[in-house]
Amino acid sequence: MNVGILTGGGDCPGLNAVIRAVVRRGQQLDLRFIGIRDGWKGLLNLAFVPLTKDSISGLLPRGGTILGTSRTNPFKTEEDAERLVSNIKKLRLDCIVAIGGDDTLGVATKLYERGVNTVGVPKTIDNDLSATDFTFGFDTAVSIVTEALDRLHTTTEAHHRVMVVEVMGRHAGWIATYGGLAGGADMILIPEEPFDVDEVCSVVKKREDRGKNFSIIVAAEGAYPKEAGGMITKDKELDAFGHARLGGVGEFLAEEVEKRTGFETRFVVLGHLQRGGTPTAYDRILATRYGVRAAELVHEGKFGRMVALHGNRIVDVSLKEATGETKTVDKEIYKLASVFFG
Ligand code: F6P
Repeated sequence: MNVGILTGGGDCPGLNAVIRAVVRRGQQLDLRFIGIRDGWKGLLNLAFVPLTKDSISGLLPRGGTILGTSRTNPFKTEEDAERLVSNIKKLRLDCIVAIGGDDTLGVATKLYERGVNTVGVPKTIDNDLSATDFTFGFDTAVSIVTEALDRLHTTTEAHHRVMVVEVMGRHAGWIATYGGLAGGADMILIPEEPFDVDEVCSVVKKREDRGKNFSIIVAAEGAYPKEAGGMITKDKELDAFGHARLGGVGEFLAEEVEKRTGFETRFVVLGHLQRGGTPTAYDRILATRYGVRAAELVHEGKFGRMVALHGNRIVDVSLKEATGETKTVDKEIYKLASVFFG
C-alpha cells in the first residue's frame, strides 16, 4: 500500500515523533510512504519527499515538522478540491495519514466522504479537538507556560507589580487553565467565561488586603471582557479557514488593571514560544502511540478514522465525530483552578 503523510495547521511539538512512528510501524506492515510537503498545499502542487527509515532517523526529540506545514484549505474552491483528488490518484496513493487539528482533519473528513482513504492523528497545542482526551503538543505547551510563570513570579513579586500573561487558546482555554493551575496563577481568564474587568481588579485588591502586593493573571488569547462582547483581534484579515488573528487581551487588561488599581502592571505574550522546541517525554510517548496505531489502522483498512486517547487507552473514533465541534475546557478543572484565585 502507498501512503502519503502530511502535517497541517500550526506546528506542534511531537509532529516529527508521529511521522517517525507511522513510518517505523508501517514498514513492519509492508506499507510504503511518501511525505507531502506543507500540508494540503503539497498535494495541490505535487510537492513531496521520500520517507525512508534513514530519512526519519533522529526525529523523536525534534520540534517543528520535517514535512513543513501550512494553513491551506483545498476545499475553498471546487476546482482545488478536484485537483486534490486527481493528484492523489496521480501519485497512486492508497491512503493519506493527516496529522492536524480541526481544520486539517476537517479536510481529511471531506476527502473520505469523496471516496479517498484517510486516517487522522489529533494534533494541537490547544487541546481543543473533540473525541480525544488529549492531543499531543498540549503537555509541552503547558510545561513552557509553567516555567514562564515560575520565572515571572519572582520578578513580579520583587517589583510589587501585576503581570498579565497572554497564552494561546482561541476558543478554548485549556493551556491557560492547566498552565495557570501548574504555575500558581492568581486569576485565569478563558474564552469560555467572558470576564469582568472590575472583578479581575478586585482579585488584585483582595490580595493586597492580605499583604500580597503582586499578582499574576493568565489570559487565553481568546478571553474577552463582557463589555467588549467579543474577542480582541490583531487585524481584520481571516486565514484560509476563516480564523481571525487573535491577540491584544494581555495589553488591554494590563492597561485597565493599572488604571483601576494603581498597581504598576506589565504584560507578556508567550506566543509561539509555546509551540517551539522539543516535546516533553509525555508528548513523545503520546505521539509515538498515536503514530503506531495510525499505521495499524491503515493496514487494517479502517479509514475515515482518527486515533484518540480515552483515559489511558489508544482507540479510534470517526473523523466526523472528532471534527464536529470545539472541545471547550472541562468545567470541573476550571472550578478547581478557581479555588486558588485571589
Ligand atoms: O494552532 C493553534 C494556535 O496555536 C492557536 O492557539 C493560535 O491562535 C494560532 O495557532 C496561531 O497561529 P499562527 O502560527 O498562524 O500565528
